[in-house]
Amino acid sequence: MDETYSAIEENKKVRRLLNIEDYHQRAQQILPQMTYDFYRTGSDDQVTLVDNQLAYRRIKLRPKIFIDVSSHPPSNSVNRHTKLLNSSVTISFPCIIAPTAVHCLANREHGELATVRAAVTHSTIMCVSTLASTRMESIAEEHRRQIKEHYPQSYSQLWYQLYVFKNRQLTQQLIERAERCGYKAVVITVDLCVLGNRECDIHNDFALPDGIRAENLIDDTDDNAFKWAYDSSLSWKDLGWIRSITRLPLIVKGILHPDDAREAVRHGVQGIVVSNHGGRQLDTSQSAIEALPDIIRAVRSEAKNCEMDVYIDGGIRRGTDILKALALGAKAVLVGRPILWGLAVDGEKGVNNVLQILKNEFQTAMMLSGCQTIEDISKNDILVMNGNNNESKL
Ligand SMILES: Cc1cc2nc3c(=O)[nH]c(=O)nc-3n(C[C@H](O)[C@H](O)[C@H](O)COP(=O)(O)O)c2cc1C
Repeated sequence: MDETYSAIEENKKVRRLLNIEDYHQRAQQILPQMTYDFYRTGSDDQVTLVDNQLAYRRIKLRPKIFIDVSSHPPSNSVNRHTKLLNSSVTISFPCIIAPTAVHCLANREHGELATVRAAVTHSTIMCVSTLASTRMESIAEEHRRQIKEHYPQSYSQLWYQLYVFKNRQLTQQLIERAERCGYKAVVITVDLCVLGNRECDIHNDFALPDGIRAENLIDDTDDNAFKWAYDSSLSWKDLGWIRSITRLPLIVKGILHPDDAREAVRHGVQGIVVSNHGGRQLDTSQSAIEALPDIIRAVRSEAKNCEMDVYIDGGIRRGTDILKALALGAKAVLVGRPILWGLAVDGEKGVNNVLQILKNEFQTAMMLSGCQTIEDISKNDILVMNGNNNESKL
């Protein structure tokens, strides 16, 4: 009797995961400490990690009223599609799965394959990490299969996140493999010329358990043969080299400085991600959302009809956060840890739920702030930054 009662209570607990923080807490209960710390923590004193979320709370919304939002029922208003990369890509919800390493740590059995199925269900983009624990070809195959068998209408796409290694041959092979198996963009991460000081991982002697590894970096002939290390000499001129070996659109991830955003425009990249790597690299760097207004201004002044997309990640945990990022000029957001929490709690279903929660919250936030369409979000002047609204006027 007692057992049944506690099983019901347990079940209730599982069912009552209403928001991203609920998923986070549940994941904390489930994951081994070492994995949880690896996922959650940031570098040094974790100032940037915390600030990424707090900065969204400091921005206040100023909703507009007496706007008929009934003609756009929630599902339709969000499903008005967002066009990315020069209109070559359409997504139904401006929220992309950020590249995060080794999903098999969160879900041993399916890892990235569970994540990619959820990306297809939600018709969004999954950006696959160089450090994925599943071969990129297998992820692409699962992506195709899921679309064909279950969601033929899905707009989902795969993007490939690239770390540039000292071993340029390995780097080139990764890009070529991604292009060959159907990835649609290369997202070059540029804020990791050296690994940030992640003290929790050092305390825990973080290491991948047996059987989980960065599958795409494994040499077929010998598991231990590859020698890879991040290239700390990476600079703007290397973009030319990457451009010369792929026809895929290039997106630069890890920009916080407006000068770098201008440089990205000048180099003709198709997108940038305003990001501090989820607070895992340079601690005390500016929160992503606070960096965004200057970057949008810089991009718009550099090229009047600039087609370069600006995306943002770091600290997005609520639909209102997405609304704020779009109101400040971002084309779409990327979410990292929330996906990992969903994956840890309930595999594919967990990731589906996390995306659904964010989608529902975003729909509600749009309607409550008087935004009928995605375009209204940036037009409606609905933000108050730090007590005044000057910064919202770009
Ligand atoms: C556990 C973990 C692993 C990550 N791995 C990568 C990676 O392999 N490549 C990359 O470009 N970014 C990586 N990131 C950074 C994310 O892409 C993203 O910038 C960040 O997680 C966004 O912040 P959020 O977690 O607050 O949403 C990782 C982040 C986390 C938390």
